[in-house]
Amino acid sequence: SGKRNSEMTGVFRHGDRTPVENFPTGLHKESEWPQGFGQLTKIGMQQQYELGQYTRKRYSNFLNATYNRHEIFIQSTDYDRTIMSTQVYLAGLFPPVGNQIWNPQILWQPIPVHTVPVSEDHMLHFPSPNCPRFDELQNETQASWQFQNKLQPYMKNNMKELAALSLQSIFGIYKTKDKARLQGGVLVNAILKSIKKATQPSNKRKIQIFSAHDTTIGALQMALNIFNGKLPPYSACQFFELYQENSGHYSIEMSYRNDSLTDPYPLRLPGCTSPCPLEKFAKLVSSVIVEDWSKECGKCQVRDSLGLLLLLLFLCSLSKSYSLP
Ligand SMILES: *[C@@H]1O[C@H](CO)[C@@H](O)[C@H](O)[C@H]1NC(C)=O
Ligand SMILES: *[C@@H]1O[C@H](CO)[C@@H](O)[C@H](O)[C@H]1NC(C)=O
Ligand SMILES: *[C@@H]1O[C@H](CO)[C@@H](O)[C@H](O)[C@H]1NC(C)=O
Repeated sequence: SGKRNSEMTGVFRHGDRTPVENFPTGLHKESEWPQGFGQLTKIGMQQQYELGQYTRKRYSNFLNATYNRHEIFIQSTDYDRTIMSTQVYLAGLFPPVGNQIWNPQILWQPIPVHTVPVSEDHMLHFPSPNCPRFDELQNETQASWQFQNKLQPYMKNNMKELAALSLQSIFGIYKTKDKARLQGGVLVNAILKSIKKATQPSNKRKIQIFSAHDTTIGALQMALNIFNGKLPPYSACQFFELYQENSGHYSIEMSYRNDSLTDPYPLRLPGCTSPCPLEKFAKLVSSVIVEDWSKECGKCQVRDSLGLLLLLLFLCSLSKSYSLP
């Protein structure tokens, strides 16, 4: 149809889980669930398996049915439920075929899932720890009239809406761009980098999967200004598809699958068409991308303090030698 699929990135929320903690009702004991708090349930496994099968079907003309390690990269946050979600997802996406079948009774094959410790994960785990400037912005948001105005009508509504507002207040409502640069923008940058790499002739990767949380999808969508104000449901998946037009030009199409019974919703980046030409997409999102995350987070750099100390000592010695007043 005049264009062909070149790459796909999917960011999903894990499947259904048991309550994360005994909050706020205190009604449940951890022993009520066979695996305890915050764990993927059987329903969650079914949701993720279905998402894997859906992905296989959606990209059947593009993805080889045979698993090929060069064609796919998967990263999960370092939580049981997100890692397990990825494993079931991959069972649906790449059941072994042909000579990849190693046991005819088990139509499953191992596929690697990468992860980094939560304390170092500022690409998928939001809000990222160790970012003082972001903590400051959080406090400002709580105190802002923009947030207080939004909070009032919610006070008498149900928990689900309050949860959506809480998610929105973390990454949006007040100084959204500043926050995006420290949170969702990091993931936007990672996705954009791999999309750009996929336009190179040497590229072999076709699909990139990130397994994470409602906060990850929220941070990402708010950084792109495409958030719908609702808590992302379990197994919700944000798709980025790279196409090459017949003319040779590349463009990005986004969609959001938040309901397994309907097709994903097409999403348009504000300020662009859908699909959006790659260069234009890159230009539009450049304002939420930072080169030096630690610096922008306002982390105290030991080197800088040492430099300042040396400068003071130097000035001090100057003032002595010239006996300034
Ligand atoms: C799919 O992968 C197999 C095994 O690596 C290969 O022989 C085949 O050519 C590939 N098919 C396509 C359409 O790329
Ligand atoms: C944010 O507010 C909390 C509670 O008032 C306070 O303890 C904390 O120091 C504040 N953090 C920043 C970075 O301003
Ligand atoms: C899914 O997203 C669409 C588009 O933003 C929205 O209209 C719809 O209400 C959402 N559904 C759920 C279940 O969140």
